[in-house]
Amino acid sequence: MRKPVIAANWKMYKTVSESRKFVNEVIPACTSITEVEMILCPTFLSLAHMCEDLQGTPIKLGAQNLFWEKEGAYTGEVSPYLLSELGVTYVIIGHSERRGHFGETDSQVNRKVKAALSFNLKPIFCIGESLEQREQGITNKVIEKQLEQGLLEMDQSSAINLTIAYEPIWAIGTGRSASLEDAREAISFIRQWVSRAFSQEISEKMPLLYGGSVNPDNIGQFLARQEIDGALIGGASLKEDAFIKMVTIANNIK
Ligand code: PGA
Repeated sequence: MRKPVIAANWKMYKTVSESRKFVNEVIPACTSITEVEMILCPTFLSLAHMCEDLQGTPIKLGAQNLFWEKEGAYTGEVSPYLLSELGVTYVIIGHSERRGHFGETDSQVNRKVKAALSFNLKPIFCIGESLEQREQGITNKVIEKQLEQGLLEMDQSSAINLTIAYEPIWAIGTGRSASLEDAREAISFIRQWVSRAFSQEISEKMPLLYGGSVNPDNIGQFLARQEIDGALIGGASLKEDAFIKMVTIANNIK
């Protein structure tokens, strides 16, 4: 059985004090939730503070990006070594906003995934097609290329630590989530690919998430599907009560 995952991607929102207030408010409701992998991904600025605040709680911390080198003259960057030393567990890699706004390529994403794994960080590797690509009927082809290139030269012992998030670009931040059938189809396609590329055992263990306009009202329908192990949530994860609602639904449904 795969544990359901609720990962909050806070993007460039929340000051340090707002992040800490959120944590203080959700901890009491979340300590009794044992069957959900809860992950908060704040800005780099809040990570150190939240590390302290989350100690002894079941909530894990994730970064939203990293650079692949361990250390060096890379102004403005943060390395997997620094994140791992701090106590961060997860890192989002290859989010479409990084690919789109900052020109991240599949090969850069690949270097980041490998660097994260080499410092025992667990990548939440994001893939997904644009609206144009979906309308052209090439969704699977696009996803396959992102998988092949983003996970190039990865061995089985590394792959076991991956989480993959299917996030169609047109569904992110738009209020228009993918249909249940589209999400289910893409995630099944990803699981089959993982099985071929690594092994059936790894594909059965790997958490595969859906992301894109998930909220407390629609999360239940996604999580009710056996293929979908959880959600990567942006906008709706910023509010304490919505986050608590979504982890509670995940806890009850799976
Ligand atoms: P959204 O973002 O939930 O606001 O659509 C999802 C994401 O970017 O991971």
